[in-house]
This record gives sequence, structure tokens and C-alpha cells, in this order.
Amino acid sequence: MSTTSQQDPAKQVPRHVAIIMDGNGRWALKRRLPRLAGHKAGTENLRRIIKACVEFGIGYLTIYAFSTENWGRPREEVQGLMRILEDVIDKELSELNQQGVQIRHLGRLDQLAPALQKKVLDAVNTTRNNTQLVLNVAFNYGGRDEIVHAIQQMLIDGIKPESVTPDLVSKYMYTAGVPDPDLIIRTSGELRISNFLIWQAAYSEWYVTPIFWPDFSKDEFRKALDEYASRDRRYGKVADPDFEGSNV
Ligand code: FPP
Repeated sequence: MSTTSQQDPAKQVPRHVAIIMDGNGRWALKRRLPRLAGHKAGTENLRRIIKACVEFGIGYLTIYAFSTENWGRPREEVQGLMRILEDVIDKELSELNQQGVQIRHLGRLDQLAPALQKKVLDAVNTTRNNTQLVLNVAFNYGGRDEIVHAIQQMLIDGIKPESVTPDLVSKYMYTAGVPDPDLIIRTSGELRISNFLIWQAAYSEWYVTPIFWPDFSKDEFRKALDEYASRDRRYGKVADPDFEGSNV
């Protein structure tokens, strides 16, 4: 890690990293391959980045694997992404469990095929006591949908208007109990939030790289963490007088 992070690792390593794994399609196109080959290469890369998170001591990793808008993609691609989720659970669950990864799901499960719903719930249940890394898989997830779902649940629970606080709203999010992301990484250079963690990202630091997700290596990840370590997080307040890095 960088010199900065060695000075104060507790402060500098993000507790929670969230990733928009973008650019799989363009990665495939560049190689004249079908888009699904890009998603498969992206899945391989995900395995490496999960390992790196464990190694770097990151507590929470959230990945954007399928958005509520992704249903609008060609049928073949949608089915392929469903199959990838199924395959990842079938082939990787035992290793993830051994690594101490706790799998959580963010989003609406009820719109997935019943067999896939069961697989996801089994994976969540099998890994529920693991503590090395919490892996939030945002699948059929949308930030607006999450907020609508939270409001519906609050109304069902009869919450009084005066009881609605930011803390309470957080408890109704799919991420209940998970700290807000410290760092959000977006690969492939696009500068937008794409309906990802719009409640939780209020004070997250952003890192955008032009690299396509399948090529976002452990070294590139380390660069993102080093950049994060050089940031002064002010949360709308003034600069920390003891901060030795850049105050931009
Ligand atoms: C965005 O790239 C990526 C996705 C919509 C899917 C991400 C999925 C994976 C990396 C596979 C891992 C999945 C699971 C379930 C563990 P894009 O296709 O929009 O790329 P483009 O903008 O270049 O077309």
C-alpha cells in the first residue's frame, strides 16, 4: 500500500467499497466477441477483486451485477446474466465460504426464477456467520426502487412522520446494518451514478477509471485505494487541520 496508508491504515483503508463493474460489453466488442464473453471475463475478474478485498482488509464490498433497468437488454443477455449468477453460486460458494465471505443480496428477489431465488437464499444462509468480508450482491437492484420499497415498508409498519429520520430510513434500505460506502469505483470512464446506492452514496468518495471492468486488476484496485487514502473527507464541513494530504 502507499506510504500514506502505512501512516494510518485504520483511517485510510476504506471500510466499504462499492463497484459499478462497467465496460464488459465494450471489452468484448474490442475483441469481436459476444457481450456475454465480456460478462464472463468480468466474473473472472470479480473473483480476483474479492480475494484482494480480503487481503487488503476491506470489510464490505458491494457489486452492481444487475440493475432494475437491465431487464431492458436483449433476452439472451438477460438470461446469460441470470445463468452467471447461478454458476457463481454453484461453482464459487464453497470457496467464498472458506474465505470467510458473507453473501448478502440487495434488490428484489421475487422477480427472479424460483430456483434462482432459492439458490441466492441458500447462499445467504450458508454464509451468514462469516465475518472476513461482507459481499453485497446488487442483483435486480435499483436505488429508486430501494427507496420506494423502504417507504412502502415504513407505511406498512405504521411509522409516524415525526419518527422518520435519516437513521430510520437507512434501517429500511436493503443495506440495513451496512455502513455507507466510503469509496465507489466505476470502471469504463462513464461519469454517472446509474441508480446505484443513491441514498447511501451521499458522502462517498468516487474513483472513475477508463479501464474496462475485466481489465481492472489488483494493481489498478490498489491505485484506487491509494487515491482514496489521499482524500480529505470533509462531509460538508471544513478541512481537517491535521490532515497531511491534499485538501482539494
Ligand atoms: C455493465 O457492463 C455490467 C453489467 C450490467 C453486468 C455486470 C456483471 C458481471 C461483471 C458479472 C458478475 C455477476 C454476478 C452475478 C456475480 P456493460 O455490459 O454495460 O458494458 P458496456 O457499457 O461496455 O456495454
